[in-house]
Amino acid sequence: MHLTFESGDPTQAPTDALVVLVGTGSESPVWSVPAEDVDTSLSGGLKTLALDARFSGKTGTTLVVPTLGQAVSRRVVLAGVGPVAPLPATAVTRAAGAAARAARDAGARHVAFALPDPDWGIDSASALGAAAIGVSLGLYQFTAYRGAAAPASADGREVETIRFVSPGLDDASAARSLRRAGAVSRAVNFARDLGNEPASILTPEEFAARARSTAESFGLEIEVLGPPELAEIGAAATLAVGGGSVNGPRLIRLRYQPDTNTGDSRVPGLVGKAITFDTGGYSIKPYEGMLDMKGDMSGGAAVLGAMSALRDLECQTPVVATICAAENMISGTAFRPGDVLRGMNGVTMEILSTDAEGRLVLADGLVDTARRGATELIDLATLTGAAVVALGDGTTALFASEDRLADRLLSSAEEVGERMWRMPLIDELEQKIEGDVADIKNTGGRAGGAITAALFLKHFTERLPWAHLDIAGSARQQKASAIGPKGSTGVGVRTLLTYLTA
Ligand code: BES
Ligand code: MN
Ligand code: ZN
Repeated sequence: MHLTFESGDPTQAPTDALVVLVGTGSESPVWSVPAEDVDTSLSGGLKTLALDARFSGKTGTTLVVPTLGQAVSRRVVLAGVGPVAPLPATAVTRAAGAAARAARDAGARHVAFALPDPDWGIDSASALGAAAIGVSLGLYQFTAYRGAAAPASADGREVETIRFVSPGLDDASAARSLRRAGAVSRAVNFARDLGNEPASILTPEEFAARARSTAESFGLEIEVLGPPELAEIGAAATLAVGGGSVNGPRLIRLRYQPDTNTGDSRVPGLVGKAITFDTGGYSIKPYEGMLDMKGDMSGGAAVLGAMSALRDLECQTPVVATICAAENMISGTAFRPGDVLRGMNGVTMEILSTDAEGRLVLADGLVDTARRGATELIDLATLTGAAVVALGDGTTALFASEDRLADRLLSSAEEVGERMWRMPLIDELEQKIEGDVADIKNTGGRAGGAITAALFLKHFTERLPWAHLDIAGSARQQKASAIGPKGSTGVGVRTLLTYLTA
């Protein structure tokens, strides 16, 4: 899909579908100037149809209207953006995604998109960036395994070009917005691809191979540790979790070094859980619990996705990252309940459930990242079903050792429209994970399960400021949204990129 910008009057663009924005007002919808202009060409017919359809202008709603030769564009797509005083960038992103999906469903190949009116309280460059991200995420499809009947896409319908049109934006600013939006969307869609890939293909070794080519393409240093090297550094937990699979574990170390050194002494350290398949091990999962477990590497995918865009976005700080890749399977070499493991920092862990494996690989990943010079740690993991029970689908649970870090992550998430809610690290619950034969045990029971998982991780954060994002409820969606289809969402990438580059 090709995205371009041109200045001019959007209603004069000959195209399959013209997207025009409509906001919500106190009594009736707020029509943008291009929407009014198309309505005039249609002798008021557009507003009549919108009224009939009860089109309200709510964010993410759309109405496709054929123009039957009465306007320059073959169709007009009304796209709701909600309240417009001022118009938030996240609403533009959602509206653009929904409109692009509606245009594609209607069969449009070439789309023109009228950017928001200048008096709607968002500058044109930001609006362009937000809209470009919306369409790129909204039109994403995972087509790698589609059969010969529809090779390119799910059903052969595909948008080929999108021209963003606005009367007032200079070409240089527009190009910069499109470039940045392209880097961000590519990173998110890359993370989605990893999350959608079957576990038979995306083994820990294959994850490392993809990290290698990513590092090569986007200017990152990389080092991959396999079982022998993991034994050398004492990563016993990773070896235990990955020990049941013929596809051995990998610890993937990445480093981004900015071109210009700003003298900033901060080195954020990212850590991602990448269980390429989670059967639960001997504490085996039931049928329903195992269905989406190819997506249990989504934390690692978000980390790799974010790392891949840092150079394009000219991130000013160095960033280190660790992806803990392993497959949690059953065999004669698998670990068992009752086993005791020694962490890289000496903390011993008693296994109660082999299904609480994410915190074990993260224990190694956190300590390793701290030792590589990180000054703060942020981990992302599809860690607990309890986080989904607590917050429902679509919301990331945030735990943080410091308010400052928590607040910056929350505002980054809000800025890009990724829903995130802070949860408490309740000290009193620490007793639930006190070990019988070892220092700590790897589950604290059902009550407060997301919190006790976070408290477990805290033992491996080496006193650094630390945040933990439990993305169990947000890494996948069960039905399509404005910004993507059912399946892997790539959640975390945009929050991290905003946090790291703002
Ligand atoms: N990968 C799962 C958590 C998960 C559940 C992710 C649902 C996405 C959707 C994790 O490894 C796990 O199995 N957690 C257990 C922990 C329990 C055994 C303490 C859980 O949440 O049940
Ligand atoms: Mn598990
Ligand atoms: Zn898991």
